[in-house]
This record gives sequence, C-alpha cells and structure tokens, in this order.
Amino acid sequence: MSMLTDSNQIIISTHNLNKKFGGIVAAKDVNLSVNTGEFRCLIGPNGAGKSTLFSLLCGIERADSGEIRILNKEVTKLKPFQRIKLGLGLKFQTNRAFQSLSIKDNLSISNNKIQVMDNEIAEERYQLALSEFKLKSEGAKLARELPHNMLQWLEITMILASFPKIVLLDEPTAGMSVEETLFTGSVLKRLNATGLTIIVVEHDMQFVKDVANKITVLHEGEIFSEGTAEEVSNSEEVKNIYLGRD
Ligand SMILES: Nc1ncnc2c1ncn2[C@@H]1O[C@H](COP(=O)(O)OP(=O)(O)OP(=O)(O)O)[C@@H](O)[C@H]1O
Ligand SMILES: [Mg+2]
Repeated sequence: MSMLTDSNQIIISTHNLNKKFGGIVAAKDVNLSVNTGEFRCLIGPNGAGKSTLFSLLCGIERADSGEIRILNKEVTKLKPFQRIKLGLGLKFQTNRAFQSLSIKDNLSISNNKIQVMDNEIAEERYQLALSEFKLKSEGAKLARELPHNMLQWLEITMILASFPKIVLLDEPTAGMSVEETLFTGSVLKRLNATGLTIIVVEHDMQFVKDVANKITVLHEGEIFSEGTAEEVSNSEEVKNIYLGRD
C-alpha cells in the first residue's frame, strides 16, 4: 500500500465519547479523529480531560457511552492488550522500564513484534530511535542508573521495538531540559516523517507548536478547539482558558 493511499485515512477515532467520575464530567461528547501519519497533540489546562482521553483510547478506562475505533475496528470494549495487538504503542506518564534490567534487556523484552505490517519501515524507526537516543552504545547500563531524559528515551524506543502503528505518549518530555525537549521533539518529528502516527498528550504549548500537524484543545472534558499550532496559539479563547479567564 502506498503512503498516499494510507494517509487521509482515519486511523483512530472516537464518537460521542462520554466519561464521568462521580459528578465530574471528564469527557463530554468527544469526537476525535486522527488520520494515518498525523502528529496530533492533545493539550488543555489542568483537569481538561487529557489523561482521561488517553485512558479511554488505550482501554484503561471504560467509556460511559460512545464508541472508539482503531483501524476501522470497534474497540470500545476491548482490553488494553487487545488494542496494543492492533498496533497501539503506549507511553504512560510514569516510567515503566524495568529498573534492574539493562537498556539492552529492557529493549529485548519489548521486542515482541506482534504487528503485521511493513516490517522494514518499523525496523527503521526502531533503529533510528536506538541510534539517536544513544542507546546502543550504553546498552549494558541498568535502567536505574539512567538520568531522567535517558529513561524517557529508553521507553520511547521500547515502544518502537514492538512495531506499533500508532504511538500514544503522555507527556514524553516531562522533566526534561529545554534542549532535551527540543531534541526529543526533533526525533519524534523524524519518526512521524516515516509515516508513523503519533499522538502526544502535553501541557506545554511551546513543545506542541514545534511538533504538531494539528492540535486538539480540551477544556472541561470537551473538544474546545482544533487547528494548526498557529491557529490555536493565536486564539483568544484558547489563551483565556489557559489563563482561567473564560
Ligand atoms: N480516576 C478518577 N477519579 C475521579 N476523578 C477523576 C479521575 N480521573 C480524572 N478525574 C477528574 O476528571 C477531570 C479530568 O482529569 P484528567 O486527569 O483527565 O485531566 P488532565 O487534562 O489530564 O489534567 P492534568 O493536566 O492536570 O494532567 C478532572 O476534574 C479530574 O479530577
Ligand atoms: Mg493528565
């Protein structure tokens, strides 16, 4: 299948997704639609519902109503591991690398390659991350000896080791320096340029401006606004919700 026919195809979507926690509306009629090859960022102020949407997409939380589709398959009631088998790669906000294992061993246990896809390009993505994040040369080091940025990079590479089609990252640059954040963004952009669909949940408007094709702004559980980085960052309404002035 050519890249051309592949793009503009919806790879993951939600339809009128709702989720309440007690009286709190964490997702309200969310209709999200991400195309193959997109670099989408989900942003919004504290409590906007970003992590809730992440959890609903990957199946950690079950929606009260609505539908989720991955690669045209309804997955609303599927468990996280079943969605991962369809090609979802997940990076949670907390680090999931095995602390007592080396970089090399962490990578080899992630190397389950369960996806049926163009393996060559998936292998290229994995190799790109390995070399850019300098993980090969440091392979013998234990995860617990790594500085925070390296641990984040290890986790991103661990995801790529399973050849995902969609990568969902929750605040992948949290705790990184400005330079490390910029560098991470540049590597993610190169991975996206190979056709990998990336969805990043992020707080930081600066980072998303740098990487996103399209931004979805969440507010009080709803999609508040959607557009290019320029459109979103110039919007007075978006500035207002960030400053709590709405
Ligand atoms: N498990 C839960 N139980 C009860 N309330 C929850 C739960 N998870 C989220 N909420 C509430 O749902 C709303 C949305 O939370 P969510 O964590 O999705 O926001 P967020 O956009 O990720 O915020 P942050 O930027 O602070 O991480 C908040 O009001 C939050 O307190
Ligand atoms: Mg959150």
